[in-house]
Amino acid sequence: MENRNGILHIGGISVEELRKRYSTPLYVMDEEFIRDNIENFKENFKSEKLNTEILYASKAFLNSYMVKIIRSENLSIDVVSDGELYTVLKQNFPAEKIYFHGNNKSNTELEMAVENRIGRVILDNIEEARRLNEIVIAKYGHNSYRQGVQLRVNPGIDAHTHEYIKTTTNDSKFGESIFDEKVKDDLLEINKMEKLDFRGLHCHIGSQIFEGSSFVEAASRMIEYIKELKNLGIVVRELNLGGGFGIYYSEGDKPLDIGLHLKNLIINIERLVDEKGLGLEKILIEPGRSIVANAGTTLYTVGGVKRTFGGKKYIFIDGGMTDNIRPALYQAKYEAEIANDLERKDKKIFTIAGKACESGDIIVKDCEIAEPNTGDIISVASTGAYCYSMSSNYNMILKPPVVFVEKGISKLTTRRQVFEDLVKNDIYEEI
Ligand code: LLP
Repeated sequence: MENRNGILHIGGISVEELRKRYSTPLYVMDEEFIRDNIENFKENFKSEKLNTEILYASKAFLNSYMVKIIRSENLSIDVVSDGELYTVLKQNFPAEKIYFHGNNKSNTELEMAVENRIGRVILDNIEEARRLNEIVIAKYGHNSYRQGVQLRVNPGIDAHTHEYIKTTTNDSKFGESIFDEKVKDDLLEINKMEKLDFRGLHCHIGSQIFEGSSFVEAASRMIEYIKELKNLGIVVRELNLGGGFGIYYSEGDKPLDIGLHLKNLIINIERLVDEKGLGLEKILIEPGRSIVANAGTTLYTVGGVKRTFGGKKYIFIDGGMTDNIRPALYQAKYEAEIANDLERKDKKIFTIAGKACESGDIIVKDCEIAEPNTGDIISVASTGAYCYSMSSNYNMILKPPVVFVEKGISKLTTRRQVFEDLVKNDIYEEI
């Protein structure tokens, strides 16, 4: 992203040109930025003593082109539904590099995983393990195929983030608590299951976390737990530490230096594994947001400016909560600019509101920005994660297209929805 003569350019292309080609609202993804982020992870998440594996958490942003990027970068991928699994498999992603999460996987989903021989199913609980074991037997009989699994556990770390994206409280719906003694029996049972190849443990302490210490603490608690399990004869070969690295959205956000953090994390883990004499073979992480969020920008066109009787000043844009639910759902804060005139003077406080029939449809509350004119382009930065993937058709508003840009070239990777998309699943019956 750069300012050339007062006009925002993304991947070397001006926002005016992007609007001309694709109209607004528009998701723009900077491909080089994504690849650089991935490089940073690869460069710093490595160890001489342990194998390492990086999985992209596809829930952050997924379309077919993104699968191709992840495949070409040689990362693995995490999916949480049959739909994500389908999207990934459709691009011939190597099945052994797919990890399947979820607290309530259906039999159909487990069958799809087993049929395609994906790398790991991350078990949520013992009931799921039993079902999965039966599904593998039903599919392959008693021949040699065994499904690789990890169990998701919860190390009880209180990471400071929004309540909705906390995952390790004792009452979390995800996984099992390491403080629950019954989980040790569950693990003994899983280890005896004929068709499950128990590989290790998974934990994920939450999302948009800034404290490196929370991740380090989670890792040390997990290692402590792995030691306890070892004493019971349960061998943990893989430790998957999940994702959650916080990114910069707006003033006050202080993201971790990911490179430094990963190096530090690895050193800590290596030391603890040595100290405790554990046979851990591999550590894994699952970043989503930190790979794509800052690479994405949403472009909107201003419909008009309105001053209320109460004195509030609104900027109306042609998208809103249907393409970015995060401000409404998590009170997430974003930064916005007049992208076709970055230097415009005389900033005031405006609220940038979308077009949906909902008072909470606000993209930036109290934004300091110069007064725009109808037709100006508003850019909202850092919308690459959890915006497109959480978009909706509320009010039958069409979902915007996703364009990837790099070195002056733009590629349409998901087209704008058309009206027909809104009714194509409806069944018309004579009434
Ligand atoms: N692994 C697991 C098991 C997860 O549950 C998640 C995110 C990740 C990895 C990736 O976390 P990340 O690196 O992206 O923080 N919709 C919310 C975020 C929900 C995150 C859910 N799990 C938001 O827009 O903030």
